[in-house]
Parts: sequence; C-alpha cells; structure tokens
Amino acid sequence: MRLTSFAFLLATAAVLPMPLAAQETIGQQVVATDAANSAERPIAFAAQAPADAALVVMLGSSELPAGLPLTAAERDAVIAAIASGGFAGKSGEVLSLRGVGSRPRILLAGTGEAPNALAIRDAAGKAAQDLRSEKSPVAILGAGSGAAMAEAALGYALGQYRFDRYKTGAKTPPPGAAVTIVGDGPDVAKAAWDARHRGIAEGTRFARDLVTEPAGVVWPQTFADRTRAAFAGVPGVTVEVLDEAAMKREKMGAILGVGQGSRRPPRMVLVHYRGAEGAPVALAGKGITFDSGGLSLKDGSGMSRMKGDMAGAAAVVGTVMALAKSRAPVNVVAVAALAENMPGGNAQRPGDVVRTMGGKTIEVLNTDAEGRLVLADAVQYVAARHRPSAIVDIATLTGAVVGALGDEYAGLFARDEALGTALVTAGEASGEAVWRLPLHANHYDDLKSDIADLKNVVEGGGPGASLGAAFIGSFVDEELPWAHVDMAGTMWSSGGSPTVPKGATGYGVRLLEEFVRNWSANR
Ligand code: BES
Ligand code: ZN
Ligand code: MN
Repeated sequence: MRLTSFAFLLATAAVLPMPLAAQETIGQQVVATDAANSAERPIAFAAQAPADAALVVMLGSSELPAGLPLTAAERDAVIAAIASGGFAGKSGEVLSLRGVGSRPRILLAGTGEAPNALAIRDAAGKAAQDLRSEKSPVAILGAGSGAAMAEAALGYALGQYRFDRYKTGAKTPPPGAAVTIVGDGPDVAKAAWDARHRGIAEGTRFARDLVTEPAGVVWPQTFADRTRAAFAGVPGVTVEVLDEAAMKREKMGAILGVGQGSRRPPRMVLVHYRGAEGAPVALAGKGITFDSGGLSLKDGSGMSRMKGDMAGAAAVVGTVMALAKSRAPVNVVAVAALAENMPGGNAQRPGDVVRTMGGKTIEVLNTDAEGRLVLADAVQYVAARHRPSAIVDIATLTGAVVGALGDEYAGLFARDEALGTALVTAGEASGEAVWRLPLHANHYDDLKSDIADLKNVVEGGGPGASLGAAFIGSFVDEELPWAHVDMAGTMWSSGGSPTVPKGATGYGVRLLEEFVRNWSANR
C-alpha cells in the first residue's frame, strides 16, 4: 500500500512542471463558485414614471402629494389606505399597497417633515429593501428637486445591495428591471449622480464585497489583485503594490512580522488619485484578511467575524474609488496594510521584538494586537513617500470600542483639533457617525517597553481603544495632523438599516469621502 502510493507520487512528480508543487499548495483547490452577485437594478432619472412601474411615493406627512400618476379612483384608494393604515409619513415608516388600479404595487415611504439628504436616502433605501423581490420596474416619486433625486438614487443603490454569489438553490429572481427616480430635475439629478453619488455607491459596494468575502477568497494578494482590476483605466489613479521583497527593503519589520505565520504573505497597496495639486490627504486602513489572533489565539466566538478585519483597508480603497470615479477635485492616497494573522510554524512569538520602517522597535507582547503593528509601518511609509497634509487611519482595532460605542458610532481619536472637528462634521453629514474618545499623554507613556521602544499592549488592560490609538499615533510625526477611527463595531450590522442591509456595512467610505472633499476644499 505504502509502496504503491510512493510509486504514484514519483510518477506524478515526473509529469508535474514544478516538482514541489504539492508542497506549495495552499487551500483545497476547489473554488466554491464562479458566479457573480446577482445584478442590481440599474438607476435612471426621468420626469415621468414608466406606465408599468411599481410606484414608491416618498412623503413626509399623511397628505398624498398632487401630480402623481394615479387615476382619480386610484388616488382615492390610496388616500383611504393612508387613513385606515394610520400612515403619518414618519421617517422609516412604510405602507405597502397591492391591487390598487393598474399598478403592480404602491409603496408609501415616510421621510419625516422637511427631510434632509439623509432622510431621503433612508426612505429610498427602505423602499429598495422592501422591493427586493419585486419583478416589475420601479419608479420613485416625491423627491422633487434634482439634488434630492440624486440622494434618493444613492439611498436606493445602497439599500439594494446583496451578496448572494455563494447561494446555489432557487433564489428570488434578481430584479433586472430599472428603478427610475422621478422628479422635476432629471438632468440635474443625473449630473449630480455622475459627479458624486454613483461613486459613493460603487466604492461602498466594493468595500462591502471585500469584507463579506471569506478569508479563503480575499487574502493580501487577492485584495491587491481586486484593487488593481477595479482601478484599471480610471483616470488620475496609480496603484502601487509592495510585496515582501519590497517591504524587506524598506525594513518594515512590523507588518512582515504579523504576516510571517501565514502561507499567504503580506502586501501593502497604495492607491493614489490625483485630482488636484498640492499635498495629498493620506488614508491608512488596517487590512488583516483574517485575524486568528496568531499565537495569542482567539477563541471560537472571537474569531468568527475576523474575515472582516480588513474593513479599514476596504474603506480607504473604497473611498478613493468613490472620489476617483467622480473625478473629485482632491489629491488623496490610500494605503492598505494587508496581512493574514495566523499561528503557523514561522509565526512571531509573544515577546518577539520587531523593527518598524522608521527604526523604532516594538516588543510584541500579544500577537492579537496586530492591527496597530501593520499600521505602524503603513503610516510611516505613506508619510515618508507622499508628504500628506493630514493622515487618517481607520481600523477594526479593538473589542474595547465595541463595548463602549456598539455599532452606532466608530471611535474617533484626534491629535489635531481641526482634523477632529472635520471628521465629526463629516460623520454627521454622511450618516456614518463617529464619537470622540480621549487620547492622553499618559497613554503614550503606558506603551513604553522594558526592552524595546514600545510594547504593543499594556499588561493588565487599561483603556484599550485609547491605548491602541496612542500606539499608532506614536508612529506619526507630531507636526502632521493625524486622527484614528476605530471601526471594530461598525464594520458589521446585525440588524441592518435602510441604507445598510445587514452584514458588511462598507462603513468609512461615506464618512471619508465627505471628509476628504471638505478638507481639500478648505485649504
Ligand atoms: N481585530 C481585533 C479587534 C476586533 C474585535 C475587531 C472585535 C472587530 C470585532 C483586534 O486585532 C484585536 O484582536 N484586538 C484585541 C487587542 C488586545 C489584544 C489589546 C482586543 O480588542 O481584544
Ligand atoms: Zn485584528
Ligand atoms: Mn487581533
């Protein structure tokens, strides 16, 4: 028996082009699917609703607006339904009607009184989720102006997101028919959509897909491949990928150390979009494609969502996608610090000392505090290479921030007041909220190591999220405006919301897109 399999091996080896191929095999070599996610509804703008469309009417009260494409009898029926259903037009409220006249369906979606952009996005996003399996074309009425129409389109685009490429059974037929946003300014709406909203939708979808994909599909190299492919031909963009050899030349011992326990080596990906002169804004994202904890291994429940530990990297690349595809007048560079944190035989050990790019040394007391390690090299590289006007890093960094802020807010730590305020403002405007948390001088001191410059954790605990922030801040020049966003709680939504179906949120794209535009305009 043994002899036969040995003989077989020899025979196989003789015909294989690479004799060691079997040893270099990674994974089980059977891909789960070649399928793509099902198609989303294409978005159109018009002054009139298509005759056969299901109607969504956005409204802020119980009063049905005039000018809807309804016969007098249909209108009366809807008004009666509003009264009997007690529909008041509050934000988040919906009333679904079937069998009214010739329309396949009429959905009333509340915006609340005097809705702002976010309320309109929410109403349209809610409609998108309610109409997920509606087969007819859809028309959305009630936005009014062109600007509001573009917001409705964005809300719909964000709300209709689905990730179903691994589902093989009978699925709801994908609604291929278009959604038409109807209102007074279709041309203005289309121009706004092309100049901004479409990019936000695409960048968010890109980020959500990367976070949702299992870690057996998205690892450092495939993240880099997807990024290159997504930016191919986009004007003004250059993509740079540092492999292990390049990172060794730069002496990036921290990211290399995190990656050394995995068969899938680390990468650093930079995406630079030059849509304006002057110093760029730098965005650095934590890109741990899987966080097992390394030798400081996580337990089962702690590990279950760690395929999403690259959500910061997805957010910064998605942000540059949003800005570049909209040809925004900004100069922005994203750096994705990609590594897989695994406990392989070559893994770094608790107690090892690594040297970062700039020369500072770190004692790695806990291999599960790996995000700060990869970011230490990333912020130094992007600062040295690109001389940015500000640097914002975003990371699924600590469980502590989840305990403090849940999934409603990301934690914001800023050493620069103007930058902190700009991010809070961007959070309010974009709907991706941040909450400021403290950074104290003592936090930096607490991170001093006995045998190296810094240690990556403080034994015995302490303010975990602030300590993580201070660690990263230790690698950014004091003169350079820097802020840190801890999105460990916001990367995933268990309940979903109108513009964020449950699952990967794509958090950070809307926040940072808004921030980069404003920061660039105000200098
Ligand atoms: N990726 C985790 C943080 C995390 C936790 C993200 C929950 C999303 C949800 C991070 O690498 C980590 O393991 N952090 C440790 C740090 C500790 C060892 C100082 C933590 O928070 O427990
Ligand atoms: Zn992590
Ligand atoms: Mn970890």
